[in-house]
Amino acid sequence: TVFGVGHPQAHWMIVGEAPGEEEDRRGEPFVGRSGQLLDNMLRSIGLSRQPGVSTGSGESSATPDPAHQVYIANTLKCRPPGNRNPLPEELARCEGFLIRQIELVQPKIILAMGKFAVQSLLRSTAPIGQLRGRVHAYQGVPLIVTYHPAYLLRQLSEKARAWDDLCLALGTMEATTTRLGSA
Ligand code: URA
Repeated sequence: TVFGVGHPQAHWMIVGEAPGEEEDRRGEPFVGRSGQLLDNMLRSIGLSRQPGVSTGSGESSATPDPAHQVYIANTLKCRPPGNRNPLPEELARCEGFLIRQIELVQPKIILAMGKFAVQSLLRSTAPIGQLRGRVHAYQGVPLIVTYHPAYLLRQLSEKARAWDDLCLALGTMEATTTRLGSA
């Protein structure tokens, strides 16, 4: 089972599709090639998935600020055989776990990466290209739709759009925290 990784109160929640071979072996989401791209994308807007920074003494340094941390989860918690697409019944069977993860982490923003995350969270089968570029909501939490990193590895030309999506997410988060701060 590949459940999730990150700060338990992260302000940012990333939802992907399903673990691949490398994730299955290591028990952590997004550790293969698409995970490296995801980490780079997150780093570019000042975010990380590290629950703590090692001091080298086996201890963790000061608690990381949840505002700059992500929690990463997938729609499916197990690898579909041969990396095939998730089946509707598999998505339905894992949905309760994802819903509970979101309830517990209580993110301030959700980044839905790829069509299966969008299907689960927005109940939409519209193409990513139609849904990206605006702010949706999941249970009152702002949700940004963007391309899955594995797709970006195949379609380099879409990286600029993914960057726009990250900027939209950052702007949305800033607006949300400013509004809450002044309320
Ligand atoms: N792709 C995903 O959607 N999730 C992973 O954990 C790895 C690759």
